[in-house]
Order: sequence, then structure tokens, then C-alpha cells
Amino acid sequence: MKRRTLLFGGAGMAASAAVATFLWRPEDRGGPHDLYFSRLNELLKRDGPGYPVLVIDLERLEHNVDVLTRSVGAEKRYRVVVKSLPSVPMLKHVMARADTNALMVFHQPFLTAIVAAFPDSDVLMGKPMPINAAARFYRTQPNTSFQSQRQLQWLIDSHERLRQYQTLARQLGVRMLVNVEIDVGLHRGGIPEPAALEPIFATIASDPEHLQFSGFMGYEPHLTGLGAGLDHPAVQNVLSLYRGFLDRVPPSALRERLTLNGAGSHTLRIYERDHTMNDLAAGSGVVKPTDFDTHHLAENLPAAFIATPILKRYDELRAPGAPWLAKAMQSWDPNRQRLYYIYGGFWKARYASPPGIAEPLYHSTNQEPVSTSTSVNLGVDDYVFLRPTQSEHVLLQFGDLLVVKNGEFVDRWPVFHQTEKT
Ligand SMILES: Cc1ncc(COP(=O)(O)O)c(C=O)c1O
Repeated sequence: MKRRTLLFGGAGMAASAAVATFLWRPEDRGGPHDLYFSRLNELLKRDGPGYPVLVIDLERLEHNVDVLTRSVGAEKRYRVVVKSLPSVPMLKHVMARADTNALMVFHQPFLTAIVAAFPDSDVLMGKPMPINAAARFYRTQPNTSFQSQRQLQWLIDSHERLRQYQTLARQLGVRMLVNVEIDVGLHRGGIPEPAALEPIFATIASDPEHLQFSGFMGYEPHLTGLGAGLDHPAVQNVLSLYRGFLDRVPPSALRERLTLNGAGSHTLRIYERDHTMNDLAAGSGVVKPTDFDTHHLAENLPAAFIATPILKRYDELRAPGAPWLAKAMQSWDPNRQRLYYIYGGFWKARYASPPGIAEPLYHSTNQEPVSTSTSVNLGVDDYVFLRPTQSEHVLLQFGDLLVVKNGEFVDRWPVFHQTEKT
């Protein structure tokens, strides 16, 4: 009896283990590159430099610009976010396609480069610049037709900062356009409530020679993830907060001349039928990194890829230290049958192709190990593709962007420098 119980018990445990194995053992998620990545792979093997590059798909980029501009519509201005598309020729392309000269800038060296490359642009700063950065801009401003007193809006988030800018404007003998950052629910700073605008408007009104109010910037990425339409209570809350600030604008500031900015790639589409804001910003949606696989960007296509060559291939899993562990992992997980080492790695990016790359055993910025199933059959010198999680930092890491159209390289786009020569 006892023995039978044991036997049944043992059989039961074995059965549950089998069920657990069946349930939990990973499936083979691997496969070859699809046609899109196979073509890119062939192109890069033929004409690529043999090290990691950042590829921009021009047709997809243009498609994404069209989707974004259609959402903004004819009555509002589309403002291109420079930090997310950090390359002069890339911006040129996007601005021409979208028919806009409005830019949002977040970094003083980029601002200086923008003024040199786009003397006709209309620039709104996307974050408040420390006064030293503003002073440096005036000190090093390139000699072009760009007129900062008409074309450059500094972002001011407090009365104290306004005072600093006023002092600088007086020292330099210039007039500055002042756009005020307002908090419409993100709580990342800016003016917290309409009443707090009073000292700001008073200071501006008292010094028209040096200061001019030019509008508001109310960014609201906290709406991302709600899948929200215009009627959503959270959206209506943002808009009612925005209107609350607008109600405080003195009549002397001509409303139709103001830049009433808001939105970003994630949320821009919400406002197709709303006119509270007249100026909507977006950058990342043009290249769609993985952080932008969000509700309102469903129509946009990934257009930026890291492509990196395979340096080594092994038909077994190898790991430093305990060989039994590599063996155990290999026999448990069909996605760990092969091991490749790629050139570089550990970028802010996710593996895109081939499919089914297992989480690396460890990360390396030099040669990252990449394990796959036997359904992935790439060789040394083939390419692996990743999608950046975000564009603003990742696009600056690879030198010139390689622009591809119709399966050919058509251009190289230099990227911005993070710093200037002093
Ligand atoms: C003030 C502001 N506006 C707009 C954006 C949107 O940029 P993107 O479309 O690249 O997300 C950002 C991004 O950080 C921002 O800080």
C-alpha cells in the first residue's frame, strides 16, 4: 500500500514535472532574417564599413513625417524636435518634407549649429538653459541672418530665471523672446499654477526693451500609455489646465502671435480636432525607436537600425567559468544552441533581427555574446540588427548615419557634436 502510494506519488510528481516542462520550456523563437533585413544584410556585407553603423530607412522616415504632419493639420505648426533627430541633413529632409521651419532645441551646442545651418528657422528651447549656456550662445553666435530677438524663444520656468535672463539681456543690449514652461500635469517643473504667472508678466511688462512674452510650452507625455482620445478625462484635464494659464495672458500679448506649444510624438495625434495649442512638437516618431511603439504611433514604422557584423560563431553555448551551466542552459533553452559574438553591443537598443535572440549571458560594449536557436543560421560577417530604444543619445554614437533607399545607400548624414571646440 505504502509502496503504491509512493509509486503513484512519484508518477504524479513526474507528470507535474513533465507538464511544467511542457509549459515552461522556451519555444524555438529563432528564424532567418526576413526579406527586409536580408536585403540590408547583403547591402552591408557588400558596401558597409565592417563595423557597427546606424542605418536610416529614408522611405520609412518620409512615411513617418507624412503621418505626423497629417495629424498636425494645416492650422497648427509642426515643430521638429532636434534632440531626437540630431543631424543637420536629417533635419533638412524632415523640415522640407513637413514644410516647416519650426524647431525645438535642447542643447546649446546644437542651438549654435542650428543657427548656422538654418538661419530662417523658428527656434523654441525645449528646456530652460542655465544662464551661462544662454550667455555662451550670444558670445559664440554664428554670423548668419538669424535674428535671435525674433527667431529664438528662450524657455523660462521661474521668475528667478526670468530675472537672470533680464540681467543678461540688459548686459548684452538685446531683446529676448520669453516662452514660459507651464505644468499641465507632468510635474517636471515649470510654472505650477496660473497665479504664479503674475510676477513673470509684471517683470516682462516693465522691461519691453529687453523682454517679450512669446507663448507657453506645456508638455504632457504622462498621457502616453492611456490610449487616450481627445475626450479622455486626463486629456481634458491637460487642456483645461492649459486654458487656465491662457486666461492669464495680458491682452497686450496678441494671442494669435503666440507660440502655444505642447505634445510630443506619443501624444501629438490626440489633438487633431483641438485648437487649444497651435504648435505641436515631435521628433522620435520620425524614426520610431522601440520606446515609441505606443498607441498613437501605430501607423509609424521603425526607420532607424543599428547594424553590426558577426565576428565569431560557435555551434554550442560557451560561457566562462562553469561549463556544466552552459550545457544545462543549452539543453533547456532551444534559443541557446548557437553562440555568436557581435562587433560592439550593450547599446540602448533591442535586438530586431534575426528573431529569437536570447537575453545575452553578459553584456559587452566590445563583443557582446548573442545566443540563438539552430533556426538562425548566420555566418561570420553577416549582420545582426537592433532597434534603438530611443534616438536622442543612440543616433550620436555611430558617426555618419547611413541612409538607405530602395535597397541602396543614397547618403551619409553627419550627426551633431555634443560639445563645441572652446
Ligand atoms: C518639451 C518637450 N517637447 C516635446 C518632446 C517630444 O520629443 P519626441 O517627439 O522626440 O518624444 C520632448 C521630449 O523630451 C520634450 O521634452
